[in-house]
Amino acid sequence: MADLQVNQGRQAEYDIDENYLNRWSPRSFLEKEVPEEDLMSVLEAARWAPSAMNAQPWRFIIARTQEDREKFHSFIKEGNRIWCEKAPVLVAILSDNKVGYHAFDTGSSWGYLSLQATQKGLITHPMAGFYQDQAREALNIPDDFDIQLVVAIGYQGEKEALPAELQDREQPSNRRPLKESIFEGEYK
Ligand SMILES: Cc1cc2nc3c(=O)[nH]c(=O)nc-3n(C[C@H](O)[C@H](O)[C@H](O)COP(=O)(O)O)c2cc1C
Repeated sequence: MADLQVNQGRQAEYDIDENYLNRWSPRSFLEKEVPEEDLMSVLEAARWAPSAMNAQPWRFIIARTQEDREKFHSFIKEGNRIWCEKAPVLVAILSDNKVGYHAFDTGSSWGYLSLQATQKGLITHPMAGFYQDQAREALNIPDDFDIQLVVAIGYQGEKEALPAELQDREQPSNRRPLKESIFEGEYK
């Protein structure tokens, strides 16, 4: 195993690009703007995700002005709001529920987005912890779109900048062994 990537305390069991290990979900954000080109690069990566019938069911609502970010803060649950208020960009990820596999495919686009963000030196933190109905109303989202996730995007800050109760959790998590997720030939 000596040649395999070890990043931030994470060790791959097989050879993978280091980007997969470098991506994690910190909560400490610097109050520093993300350049337009880098934000668009992250969304461009999401654009190239595969989807059933190439339907591209994903949509992204971006909040980066103070006014737009405050609108997002109004529907994000307290446990997330306490740390994500500093994030310079919040993105609501929607999926077109008229399209088959919309959730699966929009999940792929989030995966692409997050890995491209890592590539650009940015951090991402996905959140399901927000009030769906309030978000739908605040963002004027029609019924044929599901709100899958809100993602905070920005630059990583110091762990010490977080409230004390969040500091212990500010580290990359591990994964169960690969063999526990794989079955050969049939479910066992
Ligand atoms: C669909 C989804 C919803 C999540 N919701 C939240 C959330 O509301 N708050 C939070 O702090 N983290 C949330 N997370 C982050 C996960 O807890 C995190 O991705 C997971 O623990 C793996 O850690 P890592 O991303 O640092 O590798 C969410 C992640 C996903 C994919």
